[in-house]
Amino acid sequence: MERPTILAFYIFVVLFSVATAQNSKKHIPVGVVLDLDTLVGKIAQTSIAMAVEDFYSVHSNYSTRLQLYTRDSNKDDVQATLAALDLLQNFKTEVVIGPQKSSQAVIVSEIGNKSHVPVISFSATSPTLSSMHVPYFIRTTINDAAQVNTITALIKAYGWAEVVPIYEDSDFGRDMVPFLADALEEINVRIPYRCLIPELSTDEQIKEELYKLQTMQTRVFVVHMSSSKGSTLFMRAKEVGMMSVGYVWIMTNGVTNMVDSFNSSVTSAMNGALGVRLYVPKTVKLTNFSTRWKKRFHEENPQYMYSEPSIFGLWAYDTMHAIAMSVEKIGVQTIKIENSTVSQPLPVFPNGEQLLKAIINIKFRGLSGNFDLMNGQLQYSVFEIINVVGHGTRGVGYWRKEQGLSTVVDESNNKTYSTSPEDLNPVIWPGESIVVPKGWELPVSGAKLRVGLTISRYPEFMKVKIDPETNATTASGYSIDVFEEAVKRLPYTVPYEYELFGGVPPASSESYNDFVYQVYLGKYDLVIGDITIRYNRTRYADFTIPYTESGIAMIVPELKFDKSRMKAYQPEEFSAALDKGSANGGVAAIVHEIPYIKLFLSKNCKSYTMVGPIYKTAGFGFAFPKGSPLVPDISRAILNITDGDDILELEKKWIGDEKCLNNGGITVESNSLNFLSFWQLFLISGVVSTICLLIFAIKSFYKKWQRNIQVTSLMIRSDEINSIEDLPTINQEENEVPPNVGPSSAENGTDPSPPLTNT
Ligand SMILES: *[C@@H]1O[C@H](CO)[C@@H](O)[C@H](O)[C@H]1NC(C)=O
Ligand SMILES: *[C@@H]1O[C@H](CO)[C@@H](O)[C@H](O)[C@H]1NC(C)=O
Ligand SMILES: *[C@@H]1O[C@H](CO)[C@@H](O)[C@H](O)[C@H]1NC(C)=O
Ligand SMILES: *[C@@H]1O[C@H](CO)[C@@H](O)[C@H](O)[C@H]1NC(C)=O
Ligand SMILES: *[C@@H]1O[C@H](CO)[C@@H](O)[C@H](O)[C@H]1NC(C)=O
Ligand SMILES: *[C@@H]1O[C@H](CO)[C@@H](O)[C@H](O)[C@H]1NC(C)=O
Ligand SMILES: *[C@@H]1O[C@H](CO)[C@@H](O)[C@H](O)[C@H]1NC(C)=O
Ligand SMILES: *[C@@H]1O[C@H](CO)[C@@H](O)[C@H](O)[C@H]1NC(C)=O
Ligand SMILES: *[C@@H]1O[C@H](CO)[C@@H](O)[C@H](O)[C@H]1NC(C)=O
Repeated sequence: MERPTILAFYIFVVLFSVATAQNSKKHIPVGVVLDLDTLVGKIAQTSIAMAVEDFYSVHSNYSTRLQLYTRDSNKDDVQATLAALDLLQNFKTEVVIGPQKSSQAVIVSEIGNKSHVPVISFSATSPTLSSMHVPYFIRTTINDAAQVNTITALIKAYGWAEVVPIYEDSDFGRDMVPFLADALEEINVRIPYRCLIPELSTDEQIKEELYKLQTMQTRVFVVHMSSSKGSTLFMRAKEVGMMSVGYVWIMTNGVTNMVDSFNSSVTSAMNGALGVRLYVPKTVKLTNFSTRWKKRFHEENPQYMYSEPSIFGLWAYDTMHAIAMSVEKIGVQTIKIENSTVSQPLPVFPNGEQLLKAIINIKFRGLSGNFDLMNGQLQYSVFEIINVVGHGTRGVGYWRKEQGLSTVVDESNNKTYSTSPEDLNPVIWPGESIVVPKGWELPVSGAKLRVGLTISRYPEFMKVKIDPETNATTASGYSIDVFEEAVKRLPYTVPYEYELFGGVPPASSESYNDFVYQVYLGKYDLVIGDITIRYNRTRYADFTIPYTESGIAMIVPELKFDKSRMKAYQPEEFSAALDKGSANGGVAAIVHEIPYIKLFLSKNCKSYTMVGPIYKTAGFGFAFPKGSPLVPDISRAILNITDGDDILELEKKWIGDEKCLNNGGITVESNSLNFLSFWQLFLISGVVSTICLLIFAIKSFYKKWQRNIQVTSLMIRSDEINSIEDLPTINQEENEVPPNVGPSSAENGTDPSPPLTNT
């Protein structure tokens, strides 16, 4: 009899202790607020449930247990707020996980802040949310602004000059773009347009926006959208032909994080796109979790054919582990929560501050990598750049704050910051192209560039002919040759056609202003010719670098000049006027643009010389509409021509032989001086001053009899001057140009007609 009694007692004791052990687990209520109808919401729900099960199966001796209360916020800010209030007031939840969207998090985090309940979101990425002002808001995800440096590094690596952000009109979309704009501005990349897609837009509205983008020249787009909107955008873009050769698509983490969960019709539309997301190290633990997760997710959500936990699933999982550990750390305490009153409508949780501290200080290695919530926000180190190819993605490279781009995750510490495309794997661009897109296209409205021409007074620079039969415009001349040669040297082909602006009378300075203004009006895609680069013209157009040397005009030392004695002459009259001389109604000198002077001299080789000093103009250039991506490329091509011998060939062909320009002139050598050269100098100066003294004495005597102006000249070839700053300059203001000199046609080169000038 005794034995069974003892046995029964034994069993009783064991059962009792098991029961007490179970009962002694302290249940901690935890609220979960998610948009359960979204993919991210569903992914998180599965991850959170698995996290709690996994955690307590390993830590079975913990004295606390998380008890979840899940609420659906139904993609609505107000519902999220109501759900949070309900959880705090009626279930006394000590922590709230979620809400999912940044706009929901704004109010929910403030409620948590008032009640001292940590609100932990693994998906609210807006940079405007911050733990700084709302300490009870913790972000176990990265802030969207963190990725802008990776995006700008990519843009810099490929050398694109303009980018159009496409983003949804929501807090999520809008909040990141200012950070992107600032970062792009730092690397001198323009944002010519911002494409805002309404949150509730129809497919038709999206297509309309895309058609608008097609008419613009920029071909580099940064897509900052939620995954569902982003997948729709890419399918529409594919439909309208914008996933083809020449386009560049860069996705922010909003879409990239979910790219592995899209079905094949979405990924095939996205082929060629680049994406940026936080790098997650591949571990055995992660593979094990992914396998189990997928199985469970498909049991719970059979409507999704294929899905991956995505970074959100991993963050949700790690967040639960962090909470479970923190709760255990602060121990089991009897919590007396004060009832709400009128002045304090929300309950205040006395443990809140302690729990908050425990969560922020927790550090462990989670599925998503190092889990560290310093400053209330997940710390990050490496971003991954991916390329959508086929039905999946391939790695293009990584970005780190210190080292920039790299093809390997663990870079040696001594690598310097790199934005070189060599530090990225090759990309398969939209349209299966392997050529890096240049990032812009001529607007589709014109198949060819419309190049404006005008009738120059100098046919050597530009001569326009119109075929009376076909109306076809042809042109020849130095400027035309430089332009055509430059276009040939571009790394891509640019078809163009000439159009004549203005009528038959040769253009004057004003009409050149007007001519340049036409690119501002959009009449031409560019205008070419002997157009002087002038300050006020740059208000309407961007100029290439000059293809002639900078303007150097002639000045007479070749005396006090009287402005009234300046005269305007036509180029044909220069020779006669100079021959007559100022004493006989002609002129003593001509002031004009260097290229024109060279032309004149080449035709009047023996009789005249060109002299310094100098005043500056920028030379001749081609004018484009402001911000045209062709300007840097054409400028580079012009440099390629002017740096080589080709320019000499062209000058010889149109302007004349260089030899003439040297006739009788003194060339300035820039060799360095040595002691010996000073000896010679002193000797020469001694002799010269003596002679001068004699001449002066004779002259002053002679002058009494005759008052003729004598001009001694010094010739300096402008192209032998290393820097124009080396030479004395004369202010460009018109009244400072020595007026007595007689006629000059300096004005602007473009203004050959009234050559006299003032300016
Ligand atoms: C749980 O058990 C492990 C050993 O299995 C021990 O290291 C740990 O301290 C225990 N934790 C608690 C809270 O008792
Ligand atoms: C959040 O709470 C802290 C103290 O708990 C308070 O100092 C801060 O002003 C609160 N912030 C907001 C936005 O209510
Ligand atoms: C793929 O996903 C998109 C967006 O979620 C959806 O519109 C489309 O119907 C899906 N296609 C297939 C074949 O499931
Ligand atoms: C995951 O790991 C656990 C042990 O840690 C093992 O029991 C389980 O079979 C693994 N699951 C998979 C799918 O590898
Ligand atoms: C809070 O209110 C409940 C009834 O709603 C009451 O039973 C409880 O004693 C109150 N607690 C405090 C701390 O006032
Ligand atoms: C960087 O360090 C590695 C060894 O850690 C060394 O082999 C390499 O030469 C170093 N590179 C430079 C640029 O200093
Ligand atoms: C040429 O232009 C004139 C005037 O613009 C026009 O009347 C004529 O029909 C055009 N000829 C051709 C062949 O296009
Ligand atoms: C440039 O300035 C001159 C006078 O300085 C003026 O006559 C001319 O109209 C201006 N051109 C433009 C395009 O504004
Ligand atoms: C012009 O460009 C070609 C091709 O890039 C290059 O080989 C050549 O050296 C360049 N010429 C000059 C003068 O820079």
